Amino acid sequence: MLKGKKVLLGVTGGIAVYRVAELARMLIKQGAKVRCVMTNAACQFVTPLTFEALTGEKVHTALFNLTDEREMGHIQLARWADVVVLAPATSNILAKLAHGIADDLLTTMMQVCEQPILIAPAMNVSMWQSASTQKNVAYLKQKNMQILPPVPGILACGEQGAGRLPDLNVIVDALLPLLHSPCLQGQRWVINAGPTVESWDAVRTLSNRASGTLGAYLARWAEAWGADVCLIAGVGTPETPAGVQRVNVETGLEMLVACEKAAQDSDVFIATAAVSDFRFAVSPKEKIKRQNISSMMVEMVSNPDVVAHIAMMPHRPKTVVAFAAESQNHIGYAKDKLQRKAVDAIVANDVSNMGLSRSSGWWVTADQTVALKAAHKSQFAQQIIQKVMAL
Ligand SMILES: Cc1cc2nc3c(=O)[nH]c(=O)nc-3n(C[C@H](O)[C@H](O)[C@H](O)COP(=O)(O)O)c2cc1C
Repeated sequence: MLKGKKVLLGVTGGIAVYRVAELARMLIKQGAKVRCVMTNAACQFVTPLTFEALTGEKVHTALFNLTDEREMGHIQLARWADVVVLAPATSNILAKLAHGIADDLLTTMMQVCEQPILIAPAMNVSMWQSASTQKNVAYLKQKNMQILPPVPGILACGEQGAGRLPDLNVIVDALLPLLHSPCLQGQRWVINAGPTVESWDAVRTLSNRASGTLGAYLARWAEAWGADVCLIAGVGTPETPAGVQRVNVETGLEMLVACEKAAQDSDVFIATAAVSDFRFAVSPKEKIKRQNISSMMVEMVSNPDVVAHIAMMPHRPKTVVAFAAESQNHIGYAKDKLQRKAVDAIVANDVSNMGLSRSSGWWVTADQTVALKAAHKSQFAQQIIQKVMAL
């Protein structure tokens, strides 16, 4: 999704500079062209050579540089970029931007920058919480700059609190909506996610290892690209942005009812949830006592097949995508499922992906089977959305 995009990375003098070197590498790996501007303070932490070696581009550091000003001066640098990322952003640069100070290459360039701007501050927690920093941040937000707040943790200075640069994947993810037009505007997407939980008695349950992470990322990206998104979320599904309509459910039956209601006349339904195939035939409200029972038979009845039901209902979504988590014969089972469930595509993957932060698999339709690149679930979700858009 970053292929051919031009990212200007503004690096300022915080201890997290070393992590931003890895960010530059990630952006390059995803196909972006990256140019860096470093402040003098940033060069005290990591030399420009590191960024030059990683990006294959000259790193710009000085405002008064005759050659640079002739070839790629501060104004051309700003115009060249599709997006500007400031990471790590010091409390100093936040203050300078908020007050229009232009006393070095980065701040002068920011004065002429009309591109979308993402700022990832990182600093000591007291610095972040100080009234002046918060006032500057509020002003920059008002100016339409996207601020990715620092996250809590142990800081380089030994103190604890919100001051750390977020996970680099989070920074890359935050960039994407700034680079893409709202191409899903006007579409309604319904996504289900997470495990279901079936009660056996008042305290015991049957569930599975699904985390809901991939479904939550799908919801997040579909919403970021303009879709009206409803996420039907099983227990433990990660938080989703405020713009995503979220319906929490527990059991397989609740999942079916909520999906059926939300998916009527929608454009896309993606079934990532691991819905229990069975539920207990009887589930008493009180706790079943152990007493002297040494073994017991428990009767289970099958749960409805949610995705097949949605694919066959009247006013079905235009596109229905199912997931198939298998431990063997992934593509063979996926092709069989494609026909049996009357869905438009299957994402076949290995059961071992459950609960992990990365995923891999295959996109299987009637006409094609293609491998999806192994990636962090956030990027894996973006690959799936692209495939759905291409259908
Ligand atoms: C060891 C060390 C670590 C620092 N880490 C940070 C930091 O994480 N965040 C921050 O805002 N300032 C940090 N500073 C202070 C900045 O380097 C200082 O404010 C500098 O003027 C920033 O310049 P710049 O914004 O032009 O890069 C640190 C300073 C030192 C000496």
